[in-house]
Amino acid sequence: MTINNNVSQELFDIIWQNQSTAVMLLDENYKLIYTNNSTSELLGLGPKRILGQHFDSLFNYHSIDLKSITQYSYVDGIDCYQHRADVVFIDARHAKLTISSRQIKFKNHIYMLLECRQTDDEIKHNQASNQMHQYQAARNLIRGLAHEIKNPLGGIRGAAQLLQYEVDQQERDQCAELIIEQADRLRELVDRLLGPNQLPQKTYGNIHQTLESVIKLSTLDNCTNIRLKKDYDPSIPDVYIDQGKVQQVVLNIVRNAQQALVDGGEITIKTRINHQHRRPGKAPKKALLIQISDNGPGIHHSIKETLFYPMTTNKEGGSGLGLSIAQTLIDQHDGYIDCDSWPGHTEFNIYLPFTD
Ligand SMILES: Nc1ncnc2c1ncn2[C@@H]1O[C@H](COP(=O)(O)OP(=O)(O)OP(=O)(O)O)[C@@H](O)[C@H]1O
Ligand SMILES: [Mg+2]
Repeated sequence: MTINNNVSQELFDIIWQNQSTAVMLLDENYKLIYTNNSTSELLGLGPKRILGQHFDSLFNYHSIDLKSITQYSYVDGIDCYQHRADVVFIDARHAKLTISSRQIKFKNHIYMLLECRQTDDEIKHNQASNQMHQYQAARNLIRGLAHEIKNPLGGIRGAAQLLQYEVDQQERDQCAELIIEQADRLRELVDRLLGPNQLPQKTYGNIHQTLESVIKLSTLDNCTNIRLKKDYDPSIPDVYIDQGKVQQVVLNIVRNAQQALVDGGEITIKTRINHQHRRPGKAPKKALLIQISDNGPGIHHSIKETLFYPMTTNKEGGSGLGLSIAQTLIDQHDGYIDCDSWPGHTEFNIYLPFTD
């Protein structure tokens, strides 16, 4: 569609005024020189009261670090963000805002374009959704535990009952053996639930050797209906890790992929160096990325949000502990593991920071 200049100017103005995001144009002294309707709605002030005013005078209080978010945009011409800034408007309402800023150069002047979005609803929605998923995960855990404990307990009780009346020594020995066996099963369950109790034994090693042993253990290279693709970056230097534990993590993920590919398919194991890996709450660091992907049916939506919680499983006989243990082990390496999945594609990314 071509729009002639006059119409397009008019149309752009309508679009600008109808944007749901509050957009403000500031000069270098932080004075507002242009805004849209959403800004008035957000601030509870008419355009006349806003235009020409200093940004600070539009609030009773705000924690927006205008200097920081505009500083880098001025210098580098990049977008800067501040999330969840607290503001109290002139009419005493309060809100949480996410602000992005971008530098605009126009006729030898530099302006800052600020976009503000109220995120209270989003935050509340996230909190409610997190709470629901935690509740679901806790219920799953209790149900799973009850199930895992009930079976051996039943066995122990039955054997003890037999023991009570059994006179034949051989039968009595068998009952005692059964009790020991089931008690061991329970102890093993508790140990797995508690997770790894040893600190990782780290040494420098080649990650591709670790991956090759996973491939051997999973017998993936002999699988007829599953193709294995390796996409290694040979320039990756030795990493300081507990080879056995990383092997255990990758093996569980590869086995999960194998189990998901019931009708066959492809598993790709990829390694890369991630130069600016962002870690939640920590400074970005150079990291090794191990990605295991498959073209299976994808993670079922009902368990997606609680995937890394213990006892999240939809497998017959699965304990649902594999990924939760994997997360603990990667955490012990100061690393990070995440998953992206949709029908036809699932990928697990393991990030292991390089030590300095
Ligand atoms: N590649 C994958 N494709 C589809 N679903 C997957 C994939 N990987 C994991 N899942 C789902 O995630 C669930 C949790 O995996 P996890 O390894 O924690 O436990 P599990 O495999 O069920 O049991 P365990 O590993 O303890 O024997 C699995 O039951 C499966 O439904
Ligand atoms: Mg598993």
